[in-house]
Amino acid sequence: MKRDLISIEDLNEKQLRDYIEFGRKIDGMSHEACRQILAGRILGVLFYEPSTRTRLSFEAAMLRMGGQIIGFSEALNTSVAKGESLADTIRTVERYCDAIVIRHPREGAARLAAEISRVPVINAGDGANQHPTQTLLDLYTLQNLFGRVDGLRVALVGDLKYSRTVHSLFHALARFKDVRFRFVSPETLRMPEYVIEATEGSAAEIAETTNFEEAIADSDVIYMTRIQRERFPDPLEYEKVKDAYRLDRSALKHAPSHLKVLHPLPRVNEIATDVDSTQHAAYFPQAGYGMVMRQGILAHLLGGKL
Ligand code: NCD
Repeated sequence: MKRDLISIEDLNEKQLRDYIEFGRKIDGMSHEACRQILAGRILGVLFYEPSTRTRLSFEAAMLRMGGQIIGFSEALNTSVAKGESLADTIRTVERYCDAIVIRHPREGAARLAAEISRVPVINAGDGANQHPTQTLLDLYTLQNLFGRVDGLRVALVGDLKYSRTVHSLFHALARFKDVRFRFVSPETLRMPEYVIEATEGSAAEIAETTNFEEAIADSDVIYMTRIQRERFPDPLEYEKVKDAYRLDRSALKHAPSHLKVLHPLPRVNEIATDVDSTQHAAYFPQAGYGMVMRQGILAHLLGGKL
């Protein structure tokens, strides 16, 4: 059966830990050995929404494993502009490549693509729903920073309503042992009930607050998010919350020395650049781990030898 990666909810704890291990294996390989893993294979990269890290790290991951890429980063240059359906695009592209990575503004688009496609489909973000490969790289980052994921105290901060990255990350972390959560957001951007309910049965300990200072003083990880302007139905609502949480060097005065700040990026103004040179900043290394993790993901889904 073909393997897809559509939602973190489809993965159990063992599978999440296995993915971390795939990343570790890739990291331990020579460039030469890496170049053999997917030699001669082709990845289709279909991006219907803007991206820098996700698309480029997938492409770099494929190239570093000896594979090649086709695709688009702007659907308006494709037959989508002539009215072609997503289903027909998938029915075509699957004939040209060995796996498809798709980012789309509609929730559920990646699942639909996976149902149609005969080659593996990877969800690189579907609307405000899920972003499973970001989560796997986040887990890999935590493992590298702390030597573990279990037992961490994690504050998810900012736009918890529309950020697909925190929806996926929360689902994944809730599968690990004794992870304690703080949800820090404006009232109107709270973590949706349906996201929390999906982890029912896990013993996840959750505290919801608007108090950012307390979260900084009492966490191991601050996971910042961008307020997702493009997902707001009403621009006035965005204006009200756009500067809700801003992390700068002075706000980190009372942070424990081991505290790490993560962010899927891009940042707008929620992390001041004066944080970049502190011992807490981990978001650029995190972006680097993204390529390694995506090598692990592609190798696994395409049956490459690790
Ligand atoms: C995120 C996304 O696209 O959801 N970016 C990413 O993939 N690293 C976060 C965001 O856009 O704010």
